[in-house]
Amino acid sequence: MHILDVIEKKKNNQPLTKEDIQFFIDGYVNDTIEDYQASALLMAIRINGLDFEETLALTNAMLHSGDIIDLSAIDGYKVDKHSTGGVGDKVTLIVAPIVAALGVKVAKLSGRGLGITGGTLDKLEAIDGVSIDLTEEQFLNQVNEIGFALAGQTQNLVPADKKLYALRDVTGTVDSLPLIASSIMSKKLASGADGMVLDVKYGSGAFCKTKEVATELAKIMIQIAEGSDKSIVTVLSSMDNPLGRAIGNKNEVKEAYDLLKNPDEADPNLLNTSIEVSAYMYEIATKKTHEEAKQAVLDVLHSGEPVKKFEEMVRAQRLNDSNEEIDLNFEPAYRVAVKAPKEAHGYIEKIDAQTIGQISLDLGAGRHTKADELDYFAGVELHKVKGDAVKPDDVVMELYASKPIDEAFAVRAQQAITYSEQPVDAIDAKSVLKS
Ligand code: URA
Repeated sequence: MHILDVIEKKKNNQPLTKEDIQFFIDGYVNDTIEDYQASALLMAIRINGLDFEETLALTNAMLHSGDIIDLSAIDGYKVDKHSTGGVGDKVTLIVAPIVAALGVKVAKLSGRGLGITGGTLDKLEAIDGVSIDLTEEQFLNQVNEIGFALAGQTQNLVPADKKLYALRDVTGTVDSLPLIASSIMSKKLASGADGMVLDVKYGSGAFCKTKEVATELAKIMIQIAEGSDKSIVTVLSSMDNPLGRAIGNKNEVKEAYDLLKNPDEADPNLLNTSIEVSAYMYEIATKKTHEEAKQAVLDVLHSGEPVKKFEEMVRAQRLNDSNEEIDLNFEPAYRVAVKAPKEAHGYIEKIDAQTIGQISLDLGAGRHTKADELDYFAGVELHKVKGDAVKPDDVVMELYASKPIDEAFAVRAQQAITYSEQPVDAIDAKSVLKS
């Protein structure tokens, strides 16, 4: 078999066999297929799609490209969570410690930033000294001892996704339902958890632009999980506006930590999404009703225990002095304030997530090429969000970076905001699909 034949097939919109897909994954992981050939096949898939059989074959080939973690030695139900990607989406950093504080083990393989959406791994590495390269043994021990671990794909854990994910990020091949579904589900099936909650985002800052497309993606992932005896709940939530007030890396970690320390002062949409996702994770692990699970989440959140769990995770995943104090405050070298224009009277109707995600990426919080180094200080801080009252010259947001910020960024940021003279509902919609 030759990779060119596989590329030609998909270019001509013909179905790939299981063998074609296995050949591609094996060759790419073993470096006998080059990046440029893999990019061509990914683009053909992006354009012509994969049917369910092909998507399942791709998921399985990726899943078996490395080890599948066996968590059976750990007592009790193990739960996992994943987002399909959003702007300002730091929900994992909040829900994993909450659910662990409720006594349910969370075993999670995360991803890096993808396109304009941020990634938990990049955010974790923005914490001084923290590593996401856990061996299978470290991952297991940490889930056992602390109750949760957030790790990256490695040479042993889903290496196919590690390579393909980085390539898709810089080749315009992220927004493909079969590629998203196989990337997420290969990681979820490899992490060894018994059940999972998937947060499927739709809107301008998500890969699925409409709720209909997000529903289609949710159904594909549910169908993949059904063949594997894992419980799955998908929560569909809007990503037209960024989630929360921080978009970047260091600032998102700080917002997550602050929410755990002081939930009553958190952004309501971020708090709501975190409570809902945690409650579904707890519900599938304990079989409690959703209302009971939600109450348990609220109680534990106000007990302060999740903050301790978060700190235990940072200490466990820190390579240097693990007793060092955890201080997530930071000061970017450059800041630019973006103000409401003279004609802005009324309320913020929308802050376009796609534009803000792109600005954050361009400021240095994301990658344009595989080799790009992130500026962990870079990003956007929203001072006003959807539904807030606003008057001319109010500071709506600030842009952060370690390098001087061109004035053009502020102009682009201005254009992301729409105003309304009428009051605007601040809370975003959510719905749920279960297997
Ligand atoms: N998250 C992933 O892990 N993979 C994708 O392709 C998109 C979001």
